[in-house]
Amino acid sequence: MIKLSEAVVVKDLEKSFDSFKAVDRISFTVHKGEIFGFLGPNGAGKTTTVRMLTGVIKPDGGKASVLGFDVVTDTLKARDRIGVVPEAANAYPDLSVWSNLTLIAALYGIPRREADTRAKELLVEFGIYGKRANKVKTLSKGMKQRLMLAMALISDPELLFLDEPTSGLDVMSARLIREKIGELSKEGKTVFLTSHNMEEVEQLCRRVGVINHGKIVTVDTPARLRQRLGGSIAVDVEFNKNVKLDYTGVKQIGDKNRVYTTEPHNTICEIVEFAQRNGLKIVSLNIHSPSLEDIFLWLTGHEQSDQSSVTQP
Ligand SMILES: Nc1ncnc2c1ncn2[C@@H]1O[C@H](COP(=O)(O)OP(=O)(O)OP(=O)(O)O)[C@@H](O)[C@H]1O
Ligand SMILES: [Mg+2]
Repeated sequence: MIKLSEAVVVKDLEKSFDSFKAVDRISFTVHKGEIFGFLGPNGAGKTTTVRMLTGVIKPDGGKASVLGFDVVTDTLKARDRIGVVPEAANAYPDLSVWSNLTLIAALYGIPRREADTRAKELLVEFGIYGKRANKVKTLSKGMKQRLMLAMALISDPELLFLDEPTSGLDVMSARLIREKIGELSKEGKTVFLTSHNMEEVEQLCRRVGVINHGKIVTVDTPARLRQRLGGSIAVDVEFNKNVKLDYTGVKQIGDKNRVYTTEPHNTICEIVEFAQRNGLKIVSLNIHSPSLEDIFLWLTGHEQSDQSSVTQP
């Protein structure tokens, strides 16, 4: 039975392309009113998941519902209530900004006058009202992306799926879109946000699902993901020569060596000893909490060599 507090319920969902499992029995829920971050490296299965949840492709197995509607048997009812900014722009390039937006409104059955008012409001809000008569193919990437968001919002949906909405955008456009996502959440809308940008996710999302190789690695709050590193501290050291520190799980970043440790005092003493033993000078030494990006890389196993130095969750 689907609880009303859940906007998206996914259970053992899977999708293969030929024999390749792009999405491998994933399960998670998105609560109503939250901004849910869906994070994973390239090819992890994020877009495939979004496409299944938005009724573009059919799953091979498992179940998923969106606002209580099964994505396979009740696709149209589900689609009526959601807005989608897909990975690739879905506007007609040879139609104007205005025509694209009002066409979508017509598809949703929004009365003409209401559609015009709403289209104008959205274009003004996103700073592209002046471009309303221009063909979409003449818009810059950032402008196109703002139009995509306007198209997703024209029907005033309860739930939004955004597949990397700020990817490749300038700071201004990205900020505008992020601010809008925050506002929508305050209005009680649910947002399913796919992203590569850790800062964005940390800033906006209440919970994060991490996907890798088609499997869910974890679903947690950004704060608890940080704790997964067991309160580890990153110690960065740079010597006057480019040498690799003789230390378990050390990672070289440019000229720096990075060690994750729960005992920074001991680690620093050992680094000093190492320098003395090898006739090296320490040029810089910094300690800092690992970023969400460190945690993401660790969770998705991109840096296998690092894991030995990290406290397991
Ligand atoms: N239509 C398709 N036909 C064949 N393989 C596909 C198809 N769509 C996706 N894939 C494969 O499924 C895997 C997951 O792709 P998907 O687009 O879901 O990844 P993603 O997490 O969105 O990646 P990115 O961050 O690059 O957008 C990839 O290996 C991809 O090549
Ligand atoms: Mg994708």
